[in-house]
Amino acid sequence: MFPGSEIYGGLAGTWDYGPLGAELAHNIKELWWNHFVRNREDMYGLASSILMPEKVWEASGHLKDFADPLEGGQKFNLMFKTEAGALKSEKNAAYLRPEIAQGMFVNFKNVLDTMRPTLPFGIAQIGKAFRNEIAPRDFLFRVREFDLMEFEYFVKESEWEEHFEKWLKEMRAWIERVGIDKEKVSELEVPTGERAHYSKRTVDFEFDFPFGKKELYGLAYRGDYDLKRHMEHSGVDLKYTDSASGEKFIPHVIEPTFGLGRTVLAVLLSAYREEDERVVLSLPPKIAPYKAAVFPLVSNKPLLVEKAREVYENLKLQTSHLSFPIIWDDRGNIGKRYYAQDEIGTPWCVTIDYQTLEDDTVTIRARDTGKQERYKVSELDNFFAKKLQM
Ligand code: GAP
Repeated sequence: MFPGSEIYGGLAGTWDYGPLGAELAHNIKELWWNHFVRNREDMYGLASSILMPEKVWEASGHLKDFADPLEGGQKFNLMFKTEAGALKSEKNAAYLRPEIAQGMFVNFKNVLDTMRPTLPFGIAQIGKAFRNEIAPRDFLFRVREFDLMEFEYFVKESEWEEHFEKWLKEMRAWIERVGIDKEKVSELEVPTGERAHYSKRTVDFEFDFPFGKKELYGLAYRGDYDLKRHMEHSGVDLKYTDSASGEKFIPHVIEPTFGLGRTVLAVLLSAYREEDERVVLSLPPKIAPYKAAVFPLVSNKPLLVEKAREVYENLKLQTSHLSFPIIWDDRGNIGKRYYAQDEIGTPWCVTIDYQTLEDDTVTIRARDTGKQERYKVSELDNFFAKKLQM
């Protein structure tokens, strides 16, 4: 990660993901999308616009309530305001969304009309949110531009408590799956008065960051607040019709929310360890930037290098269906190459040595244990396909 616009001194509250960070963030988003959207029958994906007009934020309550106190006690609204179009007028006022949730609410009827879902169901998206934080700090923890992974899960009012409990469990399962150390996570029942303006119950998942125990994720019961407000402000009927009873009503909403930057931080802090001679990043293979590194034992023996290139190119081809970035490295000595891969979290290193030239076997070294085992070159694609199913 690099400070945003670094060569100009940086812009506070912005961070840019470099080559490895971009892969890690991309893999986490993909894992989340597969886990919560593609693998479920009750979830519908969405990708809504970042720019939304003032009316949306009037209805959602953000115009009035999304503010922090400044020294002197005045309230400062955290939304970034701009104009859509050439004219600077209140009519053209638009905002970079401070939360992605409103995209799900304003598209509720579109999803109902096009997909005909039945309750309970969710609308999910991953996307950018912007908040003009007064004091951005702690690396990716509090920034002004960040990605959210979130869904609104629509339920009957009488069933909200059971769904809330179910999503608590699902969020715990995700925390383990993405590689966050659950020993460092605790759950906090947010008391009345400290909850967001729309919430009737909130549980925060807190992580033990080096700078203190702080919010990682949140689970909120938003009641029917948002759909009701959008119905009143837009004049559009946002009721759901129960196909069995014909009853029309506004569904209630349970909202699990997952900040991507905070996920990246918690994953890195959970995976990082220092041993006597090496630094290891024990990332789950699914989110590691590279899944494997391929090396010739030495780089000054043309036959070895040629064979290693062949193994590397074939493995890339054979695993192209697996979302499987592999890296080639022939710099320095083999020990240093292993340590460099351990440090960036590459789960396996494949080494082509003199024995490979005789019997077409290679060594596979596991990052976490440092153990090496020999496999036939023809078994490599199977080996990795199996490992990546986990
Ligand atoms: N739709 C609900 C919502 O936006 P939130 O608690 O305001 O709820 C959701 O934000 C998540 O976004 C948080 O749990 C956290 O992971 C992340 N988050 C919030 N503010 C952030 C910031 N300034 N920088 C980085 N991540 C942030």
